[in-house]
Amino acid sequence: MTTAIIILIALHALSGTFWVGSTFALARQGGAGSEALFRPQMGAAVVAVLTGAGLWHLLHSAGFGAMEKVLVTGALAAIAAAGVQGALKKKPAVAQRIAAVLLAITVVCMVTARYV
Ligand code: HEM
Repeated sequence: MTTAIIILIALHALSGTFWVGSTFALARQGGAGSEALFRPQMGAAVVAVLTGAGLWHLLHSAGFGAMEKVLVTGALAAIAAAGVQGALKKKPAVAQRIAAVLLAITVVCMVTARYV
């Protein structure tokens, strides 16, 4: 189980970092270059969501306390960000800026959840 958690958290952090980092950079560039990064971003989003679901199953499925509420808030913001990036593909500046705000919420929730 420990090995599975290590693998999942590593893939989760790597994919999440790429997704969030590229979104911040594209938002700063007014969406320029979004098309070339669309598939890698969506691929990273899928890996982040699936590994996050795996971590949830292994570590948080037993109860729903304060930590889980914060994690769910972050996860919902991430799913909304992916939806915005997919739905507003033709308006990349708007899409990346909205997604950047949502993913900032995700990162803050993910890294603070265990301390609430
Ligand atoms: C639907 C999407 C997501 C779900 C379901 C999810 C789920 C989770 C869960 C359950 C944990 C807790 C693991 C533990 O108890 O140690 C976690 C941790 C973490 N998540 Fe996510 N996550 C999602 C998206 C993201 C994204 C987009 C990022 C971006 C970087 C991210 C970054 C992190 C980090 C850095 C941690 C480790 C926090 C720590 O151990 O202090 N997650 N995530």
